[in-house]
Amino acid sequence: AGPCDIYAAGNTPCIAAHSTTRALYSAFSSPLYQVRRGSDNTTLNISPLSAGGTANAAAQDTFCARTTCLITTIFDQSGRGNHLTQAPGGAFRGPEANGYDNLASATGAPVTLNGNQKAYGVFVSPGTGYRNNNARDTAKGDAAQGMYAVLDGTHYNGGCCFDYGNAETSSTDTGNGHMEAIYFGDSTGWGSGAGSGPWLMADLENGLFSGVSPKNNPGDPTITARFFTAVVKGTKNLWALRGADAGSSGALSTYYSGVRPNAAGYNPMSKEGAIILGIGGDNSISAQGTFYEGAMTSGYPSDATENAVQADIASSARYATTALVSGPALQIGSTVSLRATTACCSTRYLAHTGATVGTQVVSASSAAALRQQASWTVRAGLGGNSGCVSLESRDTPGSFIRHFDFTLQLAANDGSKQFREDATFCPQAALGGSGGGGTHSIRSWNYPTRYFRHYNDVGRIASNGGVHDFDAPGLFNDDVTWAVGAGLG
Ligand code: AHR
Ligand code: AHR
Repeated sequence: AGPCDIYAAGNTPCIAAHSTTRALYSAFSSPLYQVRRGSDNTTLNISPLSAGGTANAAAQDTFCARTTCLITTIFDQSGRGNHLTQAPGGAFRGPEANGYDNLASATGAPVTLNGNQKAYGVFVSPGTGYRNNNARDTAKGDAAQGMYAVLDGTHYNGGCCFDYGNAETSSTDTGNGHMEAIYFGDSTGWGSGAGSGPWLMADLENGLFSGVSPKNNPGDPTITARFFTAVVKGTKNLWALRGADAGSSGALSTYYSGVRPNAAGYNPMSKEGAIILGIGGDNSISAQGTFYEGAMTSGYPSDATENAVQADIASSARYATTALVSGPALQIGSTVSLRATTACCSTRYLAHTGATVGTQVVSASSAAALRQQASWTVRAGLGGNSGCVSLESRDTPGSFIRHFDFTLQLAANDGSKQFREDATFCPQAALGGSGGGGTHSIRSWNYPTRYFRHYNDVGRIASNGGVHDFDAPGLFNDDVTWAVGAGLG
């Protein structure tokens, strides 16, 4: 039985079920999600390999080979049509045309299930969001609901708000108690838990709550699991926060269970019944996180039902990490150069002048200083245990290529989490391009729709289509394809 079979057996059926990695009902065999590729803007639905099984990631890999792919729709498996699609702007506008949010890369969060079955989660960068403002059968007012989600416990930030659950149908803040969603991250703007975070909290609107106090609940632990099962549920003057390492077959721990918070406007609740993923109720878009699967129920699930869902995740999904890189390995400690391959520019190398990073013509007869400016030492990725890399300046040790406002720059490592993540890049087998000799495309770790691109000779991280001039689809594959070779000096 899948998670939603278990909830149904407990008389708290799923009214929305979302996953890009697997079916959440044992009989479900319809499409799980849809991807759109950059080469021709056509779409493909991805279904489970068999009823109740893991997503057919191989179909996606074939469809997306040598181009880019975005997740356009996460289908509702409950049969209610509560699909998640690109979120529209609300009180906050998204970065895309007409204020829509970004879509997630289809390849930003690869994992394996059950040992060897590859699948992809939903990697939410700041700006990314999905929503359904016309959902059916979701909880309204003070009605009871339960929710669970499996998340990446190491991908988070303090921005508002990486959420999954019930929110406003207007994409605006309509007051306290108008949301009830899972939140994951280390925001301290409202509530917090023990240690320095990240924490599971409930986003109830105008507040992230860890317990009865709007400020702090020392019983809400800092999460360290790579795969984390998060549970939030709420009914009349009662709600709970529960969690577990998604790999653990034991019961979920209860971080809070009790009355509504000590603040006006949360008892009774005023839930509106829209569904959000990756954003706040008012379309706040500053947060990041990764979603693998989740569901929302009607009724207040028992702890025993939730523990059985957790047991299923541990035994039937068995989430594990897999490589974020592909193509020839970049040797840690080696010094490399990156030559552009677009026809215009194949004598140009990625180089810095001071803090500015772009392409410059370099050859064996160039001055030693310029050859060093175009040489980079490969370091293990500063941003966590990703298996990705950081590129340290050959002539300015301690300074690395990072992106800032999607522009590459050379900057000294300031030790911050933001710097480390902005300076981490995941080499991929080259997207292609007509120039020949290309070996790699260099993808941003925290914005996996974006790759190193030269555009008017300036270094950027660019997506294939988007609002910036440097996101232009023309020559995209060429501009993001680099010939990685030995250092030049
Ligand atoms: O409750 C926290 C956030 O506050 C909500 O997600 C958002 O709607 C508001 O800005
Ligand atoms: O380059 C995109 C973002 O711009 C970086 O992540 C951040 O440091 C800056 O705001």
